[in-house]
Amino acid sequence: MAMTNNYVLVVLLLVINLMVLANCAIDDDLGFGASYIFGDSLVDAGNNNYLQTLSKANIAPNGIDFKASGGNPTGRYTNGRTIGDIVGEGLGQPHYATPYLAPNCTGRTILYGVNYASGGGGIMNGTGRVFVNRLSMDIQVDYFNITRKEIDKLLGQSKARDYLRNKSIFSITVGSNDFLNNYLLPVLSIGTRISESPDAFIDDLLSHLRAQLTRLYKLDARKFIVGNVGPIGCIPYQKTINQLKENECVELANKLALQYNARLKDMLAQLNKELDGATLVHANVFDLVMELITNYDKYGFVTATKACCGNGGQFAGIIPCGPTSSMCSDRDKHVFWDPYHPSEAANLIIAKQLLEGDPKYISPMNLKQLRDL
Ligand SMILES: *[C@@H]1O[C@H](CO)[C@@H](O)[C@H](O)[C@H]1NC(C)=O
Ligand SMILES: *[C@@H]1O[C@H](CO)[C@@H](O)[C@H](O)[C@H]1NC(C)=O
Ligand SMILES: *[C@@H]1O[C@H](CO)[C@@H](O)[C@H](O)[C@H]1NC(C)=O
Ligand SMILES: *[C@@H]1O[C@H](CO)[C@@H](O)[C@H](O)[C@H]1NC(C)=O
Repeated sequence: MAMTNNYVLVVLLLVINLMVLANCAIDDDLGFGASYIFGDSLVDAGNNNYLQTLSKANIAPNGIDFKASGGNPTGRYTNGRTIGDIVGEGLGQPHYATPYLAPNCTGRTILYGVNYASGGGGIMNGTGRVFVNRLSMDIQVDYFNITRKEIDKLLGQSKARDYLRNKSIFSITVGSNDFLNNYLLPVLSIGTRISESPDAFIDDLLSHLRAQLTRLYKLDARKFIVGNVGPIGCIPYQKTINQLKENECVELANKLALQYNARLKDMLAQLNKELDGATLVHANVFDLVMELITNYDKYGFVTATKACCGNGGQFAGIIPCGPTSSMCSDRDKHVFWDPYHPSEAANLIIAKQLLEGDPKYISPMNLKQLRDL
């Protein structure tokens, strides 16, 4: 009898212990912090799966190398992890930021990061109209405002504020579509291009982005990473439709990107002074991707021009990646997964630089330093 009672007691104590441990684990996990991810298809982790849109990536063979889904498509526009996924892992976050529109993006899940990014989205509301639906930055920030209130409910106002200010990283990867699927798009935007000079359009982009970043600041974002626009003139799509040679890139597209990037850098420096207590880190995606394209062989790639998955033209750059596309067998040897997006292999190199890299690519500090501030 005594034996049994003791046994029950031991089991009870064990259960209580485990419950305490589990609770600690939740608080410890919170200690790693969260990523709140905004932007376009470079970091979309599945929001567009829930939209009526022409921009979709939840079709094979996208995701073929994504281990967490067993190689099934998830809505990520690449073969494996996005830069946002890899950065989250590198910062020690317990799981990938959950897509805001996913049904499981509820309860404590939102404390481990939420992803608002949407394929086709841009800084401007009108960007990506060609896809019918996508979440533009204004809407993504509106959604964060809803999440913000949920975090208050979960943690209480004061802990919520500290958690967001101190333990959360706000990453913004946007701008490419404002050029590719707005300013540079034939027919649909011809009006904009005639009525707005590149300078005026870039002014417009930056004043909207400034307002979006300021809104996030008002909602207690303090640690930001903002990516510039990559060499959009060198993606397989642009090279194919412009019938370029292997080592050429579309000059106008790259020129616009560089013009925007120079102004973005200045604006971020200004915001670092104006927004009290905020740190805005600048990610030089343009130079980073350009380095991969120029010296691809140094990084173990066999091509930086031909898409692994896609069809049409010299660089497989016209028809997007899908079940009927041809696909390369050496996926980690291609800088580009599809006509627009880098492969997981390229994302790994880019993410490593953002996490612990050089001021040439990430300044005034890298992401591990930003986390530990
Ligand atoms: C939420 O659902 C998505 C899509 O089904 C899945 O990939 C993800 O792992 C889930 N996240 C959590 C926190 O359960
Ligand atoms: C963009 O759309 C959002 C949401 O519909 C709206 O709140 C915002 O005012 C719009 N922005 C502009 C510049 O029209
Ligand atoms: C942020 O967190 C660190 C360690 O977790 C702590 O030392 C620091 O005081 C916190 N900073 C603020 C502003 O709360
Ligand atoms: C957040 O939403 C509330 C309405 O619920 C609104 O009053 C407030 O201005 C919004 N904040 C930002 C920064 O957009």
